[in-house]
Amino acid sequence: MIKPETIDKIFDSARIEEVVGDFVTLKRRGVNMLGLCPFHNEKTPSFTVSPAKGIFKCFGCGKGGNSVNFIMEHEHFTYPEALKYLANKYSIEIEEEEPTPEQKEAMDEKESLFNLTAFAQKHFEETMHNTEEGKAVGLSYFKERDFTTETIKKFGLGYSLNSWDDFTSKALENAYSKELLEKSSLVRTKDQKTYDTFRGRVTFPIHNLSGRVLGFGARILTQDKTKPKYINTAESEIYHKGKVLYGLYFAKSAIVKEDNCYLTEGYTDVISLHQAGIENVIASSGTSLTIDQIKLIRRYTENITLLFDGDPAGIKAAFRGIDMILEEGMNVKIVLFPEGEDPDSYARNYRPIEVKEFIEGNARDFLTFKTSLLLDETQNDPIKKAALIKEIALSISRIPEPIARALYVQKSSDLLQIDENLLMAEVNKQRRNRSRELTPDPSATQQQEWVTPESIPFEQTPAKGSSPVNYQEKEIIRSLLLYPSKEISFAVLDENNQEVSQEILVADYLINDIVNDDIIFENNLYQKIFNEIKDARDKDMMLDEQYFFSHQDPEISKIAIDMLTSPYLLSNQWEDKHKIYVKKEEDDVKKNVVEILYAFKLRKLEKIIFENKEMLKLELSEDEMLMKIEKVRNLENIKSLLGRELSRIIIQ
Ligand code: UTP
Ligand code: MN
Repeated sequence: MIKPETIDKIFDSARIEEVVGDFVTLKRRGVNMLGLCPFHNEKTPSFTVSPAKGIFKCFGCGKGGNSVNFIMEHEHFTYPEALKYLANKYSIEIEEEEPTPEQKEAMDEKESLFNLTAFAQKHFEETMHNTEEGKAVGLSYFKERDFTTETIKKFGLGYSLNSWDDFTSKALENAYSKELLEKSSLVRTKDQKTYDTFRGRVTFPIHNLSGRVLGFGARILTQDKTKPKYINTAESEIYHKGKVLYGLYFAKSAIVKEDNCYLTEGYTDVISLHQAGIENVIASSGTSLTIDQIKLIRRYTENITLLFDGDPAGIKAAFRGIDMILEEGMNVKIVLFPEGEDPDSYARNYRPIEVKEFIEGNARDFLTFKTSLLLDETQNDPIKKAALIKEIALSISRIPEPIARALYVQKSSDLLQIDENLLMAEVNKQRRNRSRELTPDPSATQQQEWVTPESIPFEQTPAKGSSPVNYQEKEIIRSLLLYPSKEISFAVLDENNQEVSQEILVADYLINDIVNDDIIFENNLYQKIFNEIKDARDKDMMLDEQYFFSHQDPEISKIAIDMLTSPYLLSNQWEDKHKIYVKKEEDDVKKNVVEILYAFKLRKLEKIIFENKEMLKLELSEDEMLMKIEKVRNLENIKSLLGRELSRIIIQ
């Protein structure tokens, strides 16, 4: 846990223009700065940064937030990760609640592994660029593969000398322990002799999401068939091969931008496609695709395109990948490369535009892919065709979402020329079989029998944000944030029954009324914001927009920034905050606020009435029944009063 004081320090130090400026080229425009939005594709800049307010806002895609929100969004970091990133940028020492000794030891070991791996990466890189052997063997190998100097630098490629202990001795000289060297698998021991694991190989560092090196893949340079072509870092505290994806660090922004991820089989495929200008590409190197890796991709996109070799091994890998991706509820397409080519060789043999065209032109959805591959060999062979249908049904059965499943059944019944109901029955059978597989306990299986996934309603709870009252709640909060200190006046009677006008602040008017009626917000975050404003008012303080813009809760700061920077409100000339719309709105503040409050109450009331009517359906005693009916009638009365009042306000 990072201490709140440290978080304050980070918020105080992080200058939005500097934080964003590391990723976006910004030009001054009046008091603000303007650039091309990193979150969507655009040609004319609509991404605005306000140094004075400490926030960014894109008027193209609507994204907005403070420095912390920006780093979370851009780097796909969690809140603590973003704080750490900013602390590091501004050399702020992170103070955390003291971890236990065991946690500390584990952390120290992890941290020293990270340090050693970073040291190794630098060492291999320097060896390749600065030694005779490095240049003659390692660097020239990459040059021969048409990797540019820029590419080689970007991916941190290197070379490990063909000696037993070059790396080992350098690491020991630098005070890394022998024990740590072995843990990292950079050094291995056999018959009591230690040696450099990657000696005589070129090295491909593997990065985590924030760009730290976790391990390496290393390629042999000779034709020696008795040795593996690639060897990889072994599992360690920091390297779990099933949970990392090669190249994701370099690809993640492009994946989000393109809303698609190209998944290849090897290190060199990733690098060559990058060099050809296709950057949303990664590889599941050194392992076949895992569920963890698919989930990792899912943080950035729902769409995966497999780029695999057209050989039998590639096809087999594609089949396996397809089913796993479908099972995660994601969309998958497949591009098979011509026999003997992989993405890397294709990118070397053709121009970048041709590579792009080939990939886009040959991407097929899984159904077309599987069918076309299998259909040829099954023509006029009923047994083979039945097997094909089973195979297709198996893939479709993995899709968790019933509607998507139904659509695929429809499509494949056309393609395969088989009755739709028959195919659906087969799909359902496969699903039942699998749910039995997953529950080997026989008694559980029996129960499972009739609870097929199809019998579970598609959507049991309404989607978030779809509640009708949500809009009104939002408008209340927006008024509280937008003009809490605006005075509005109401006519009241004084002690002599004289009509006098009484002034009240918007914040107080709304808060008093809502508290009086014991109204609770359905949206927790709105309730939190409301409470904070109310607590401040209780102490006769007023929270301004700046308070919420740099709120420690990233969800709250985002809401405030979203609400107070809507394009209607602020238009393109952002610095000019009091634009026509706002002016108009402010002129009518009283009318607006009262209208919003009434509409809010009306919605709440409708809900209570509905709930009470629902209760009438229960078996109640006659007394209870009469009481409920009376209550509903009263509520209906209030409702029609409120409704009349509201329509009076609106047409006024
Ligand atoms: P490939 O044999 O297709 O290699 O293995 P490649 O990527 O095309 O490499 P080049 O072009 O010959 O240099 C695909 C991936 O499988 C893993 C590596 O991650 C490799 O990139 N692999 C392959 C290993 O981990 N060990 C091996 O011995 C071979
Ligand atoms: Mn290759």
